[in-house]
Amino acid sequence: MEPLLAPLPADRPPVTASPGLLDRHGRTATDLRVSLTDRCNLRCTYCMPPEGLDWAPASTLLDDDEVVRLITVAVERLGVTEVRFTGGEPLLRRGLERIVAATSALTTADGRSPETSLTTNALGLERRAAGLAAAGLTRVNASLDTVRPERFAAITHRDRLGDVLAGLRAAADAGLGPVKVNAVLLRGTNDDEAPDLLSWALAEGYQLRFIEQMPLDPHGAWDRSLMVDAAEVLASLATRYHLEPEPASVRGSSPAELWHVRRGEGGEPLGTVGVIASVTRPFCADCDRTRLTADGQVRECLFGSREHDLRALLRVGATDEQLADAWRGAMWGKVAGHGSDDPSAVGVGQRPTRPMSAIGG
Ligand code: GTP
Ligand code: 5AD
Ligand code: SF4
Repeated sequence: MEPLLAPLPADRPPVTASPGLLDRHGRTATDLRVSLTDRCNLRCTYCMPPEGLDWAPASTLLDDDEVVRLITVAVERLGVTEVRFTGGEPLLRRGLERIVAATSALTTADGRSPETSLTTNALGLERRAAGLAAAGLTRVNASLDTVRPERFAAITHRDRLGDVLAGLRAAADAGLGPVKVNAVLLRGTNDDEAPDLLSWALAEGYQLRFIEQMPLDPHGAWDRSLMVDAAEVLASLATRYHLEPEPASVRGSSPAELWHVRRGEGGEPLGTVGVIASVTRPFCADCDRTRLTADGQVRECLFGSREHDLRALLRVGATDEQLADAWRGAMWGKVAGHGSDDPSAVGVGQRPTRPMSAIGG
């Protein structure tokens, strides 16, 4: 007799499962990260060489309508509730406000607007923050590794610290908060600056997070032994502040572990600081992300080599349901974890096939 249910093919999600983006390890992706360009107007040493990279040709990039169509499929058919715009530098995308407005106008499965946010270097945000808020943007994360102008110029190859600070202020004033600031500490460059960065962020009312540098640079120069890790960051902050960990249960799928900051034990609370320990304490088991690159490829994971070409499907006239189905199939195969904490595993297989600027941070 024929079995009622055929065994599930290993590369497909079960058809009876929820219509969302499940993977075979039991996770469901509800947070979509959309890269809108691989270009950037800074050249952070850990991200891009001074001369830039080979940018993706314009014909390979999704246009604004294509981006909005795929976001609509994700929100309306696949259970996505949060949409983060990244780059490269997403403010370089001319249609950003239009894309944000179209995304904010969508309705999630539970009848709400999706949360929309931007991860940016904040250059040009001073002029655009109010317009982005009006388009429905909820909040902003900005990258800033130092508050010393000469160091900023050394790290980014551009003398633009003042513009970044003005962009952050404009974002806070436009209600795009909490403004989160991402800092990467680099050995020998800004590894002594953690307490100063925290003092500055507390005074400005921004939520600072230190990020462990990941092997995502295009030149393959990342060296585990040079990385400033979470333990070192916390020890450095403890020279000036008293830190108390937030209960782990509050973290959920957020990559940042939070600490409450006080001047001394029993002192008044001054704010929080986060540490994103992607390398020493990977959070892959709680990952709720799916990614779309500027050229229309779904990536299940920041790391890894697999991509799934939704642009090709779009351009041969696929229906929304066909696009949704391809996306479900892509996520079903998501790897369990990136494994970059295993020094012996960090090699060709553990470095993604594209640099971070072309995937989206
Ligand atoms: P919120 O706290 O919700 O605003 O999000 P976020 O921290 O994910 O946002 P952001 O774009 O600011 O990313 C901060 C850092 O988190 C990045 O620089 C990465 O180091 C790390 N990160 C983001 N996404 C991933 C991911 O999918 N995998 C890993 N391992 N790290 C990630
Ligand atoms: N490791 C960790 N974070 C990185 N970023 C860029 N490259 C790396 C890397 N190799 C950060 C940027 C930005 C965010 C999107 O990713 O500083 O805040
Ligand atoms: Fe640009 Fe961000 Fe890369 Fe710096 S880290 S060069 S700001 S994409």
